[in-house]
Formats: sequence, structure tokens, C-alpha cells
Amino acid sequence: MRVTVSVIKADIGAVGGHTVPSRELMDLVRERVHGVTGTLLIDSTVCHTGDDVCLIMTHAHGVGYAKVHELAWDVFRAGTEVAKRQGLYGAGQDLLKDAFSGNVKGLGPGSAEIEFDERPNEAIMILAADKTEPGAFNLPLYLSFADPMYSPGLLLSDALHEGFKFVIMDVDHTEGDRIITLDAPERLYDIAALLRDTHRYVIESIWSRKHPNEQAAAVATSRLRNIAGRYVGKDDPVAVVRTQRIFPATEEFGPPFALAPFVAGDTRGSHNLPLMPVPINTPASTYFCCPMVSALGFSIHDGRLTQPTDLFADPFWHHVRDQTVVKAMDMRRQGFFEPAMLPMSELEYGGIVVKLNRLEKEFTMRAPAW
Ligand code: 13P
Ligand code: MG
Ligand code: MG
Repeated sequence: MRVTVSVIKADIGAVGGHTVPSRELMDLVRERVHGVTGTLLIDSTVCHTGDDVCLIMTHAHGVGYAKVHELAWDVFRAGTEVAKRQGLYGAGQDLLKDAFSGNVKGLGPGSAEIEFDERPNEAIMILAADKTEPGAFNLPLYLSFADPMYSPGLLLSDALHEGFKFVIMDVDHTEGDRIITLDAPERLYDIAALLRDTHRYVIESIWSRKHPNEQAAAVATSRLRNIAGRYVGKDDPVAVVRTQRIFPATEEFGPPFALAPFVAGDTRGSHNLPLMPVPINTPASTYFCCPMVSALGFSIHDGRLTQPTDLFADPFWHHVRDQTVVKAMDMRRQGFFEPAMLPMSELEYGGIVVKLNRLEKEFTMRAPAW
């Protein structure tokens, strides 16, 4: 059966700051999405990571299907009304346009979707991050899909041995988004050269090379500031990743995420802190809004989802989180000095550019001493 997994997320308001959506907001979103499960949708799950509400939906209508996107838009609008009624912080934060125009792309919410012929034992993983940007997935996905030091399947499995095709998006190009397609392992150094710049180059999708029609991963690549023209919160990405058999095994994603790489985001979207793997429905951290990522595993049959398995909830991750805390607190000791705070080019919050422009007038040229 041909199935589409659509994951659409938005921050539409949170309790007492950028922490967690309210119970009432989540109840309404669940009720609306479950109301069309069995008709428009085959199946669905609603959850949150920090202050971002995530709709995980399966259906038979393909990627970018207007009615599925409209459902998400309407649900987020309705949730925003609850957020306003309760005085939640940042009510409707990610809904940047007034009217729906066929697809949530370009309107604020993030989306990651994959369409595939369901395997007899289809396994998927949904990644959802808060307080960071889409480039936060660059390093873990690069290591899982291209580095045999982390992904032994590249050596051990015939299905993985030919490697993967990386579609990388330049999200900071003046004339709009543009993409480049590079094959691993042949173009590994080129892939690495781009992906190291996590603010600009973002993995958009990954494809099997042995089975060229099989998509392994899709990542939400929207940059809110490109839509709003100003800082309105970080982009807090989601991703759909297919695992097992012709793709890396679910457990081959663990060690790359256990690195807890430093990523941009956290307080005021203006700093670097490690990406902490957390269980699903975890509130954002009062410790400087340390970036977080959750991962849910599912099996799918006839488009129906099993119960989720919370992939960062087993005991191993307590230790990873403890180590991540140490890393985060070390970085915070140096306050606003780079790299704890982002470089000027990435600082949009609170008009720092205006302040710098004002200082420009006070600079004077010094005559050379020679
Ligand atoms: P969110 O993008 O998750 O709303 O966080 C905004 C922020 O600036 C937190 O300090
Ligand atoms: Mg928020
Ligand atoms: Mg958020």
C-alpha cells in the first residue's frame, strides 16, 4: 500500500513563557485531529516537544496534499484561540500569515513528509526538536547515513553499501531556497563542507542509492525569519526517518544523538548549547531553554500506526542527559562571549542590528602611525 506520513508542527502558545502547551490546548488539537482519523487520515498521534505541538498523520493522499495541510492550519488556528483565551505566551507565534493558501510551507508551521510503498514491516522514527534550527539534524543524520564509524550497516549490509543521496538546501540564499544533490560516499567531503554550516545548509531529504525511489528521510527546512522578515522564534524542526533493512537501524541513530552537538537556539534564539535528547512531551528547560530533541518510533501496517516507542526514554539516556547538562553549564559560564552567544550575523533578536548601526556613527578613523 502507498502511504504518506505527514508531520506538521507549530508553536501556538505556551504556559508561563516558551515552555509547554496547555492541557486545554492539547486536548482541543487532539480532538480535532482524531475527528478526521478514519476519513481524511488513516491514523494520527498528537504530541509536543517543549512548546511545539506536533501532528503525526498517515494518509493515502501524497506529499503536500492541500486538505491535510489545511487540516493542520485549521487545527493550529483553533488551538491559537484557546491559547488567547488562556493568555498563553506567544499565542499563534508560528502562524505568520492570515490566510491558508494550499500548503503550510511559507505560512509558519514546519512540515516533513514522506510517501512510500509500505514494507511488510515498515519502521519509522519521528524526530521533533525545540529551541533550535533545522541544521541541528545535520550532524546526527550525516553520521547515521554516511559514516561507518557510527553506522556499521554501511559496512555490514549489502542494502546500505552503495550509500545514500543527500539533498541539501541553501536556506539563506537571497533569491529563495535552492538545492544541491550529492552522493555519499563519493562526495563525502563536499557534503561535509556544506553541512558544517548549520545556519545555511540543511539536509532536506536523504534517499537510498541501491533503491533510488526509496526515500529515507525528510526534514522540515523552513526559516521563520525568511517568512516574517524578522526574528519570531527559532524554527524548531521535525523530521521523518525510515529505519531498518535498506536504511540504518533505529539503534544506529542513538550514538550520533548521544554526542549532543552544540547547536544554535536556546534563550532568545541567540546562543549555542548542546542538543539534549529527551522523552516525548518534555517541557522546555528553565536552564536557558537548552535545545532538545525527542524521537518516537512506530511500526506501520496498512497506514495504521502502532503505539509509539519513546526512543530517548530508556535508562541509557539519563547518563547522556547528565553529560549534556555539564556541557551546557560549561558553555553558559562565558555568558555573551562567542561562541556562547551566536555571531552578529545570526542575531536578530531585539534589534541588535539597529543598536550596532547607531554605534557606527561614533566610530572615527585613526590615522596610521607610520
Ligand atoms: P521558541 O522558538 O521555542 O518559541 O523559543 C523562543 C525563544 O526565544 C526562547 O527564549
Ligand atoms: Mg515559543
Ligand atoms: Mg519552540
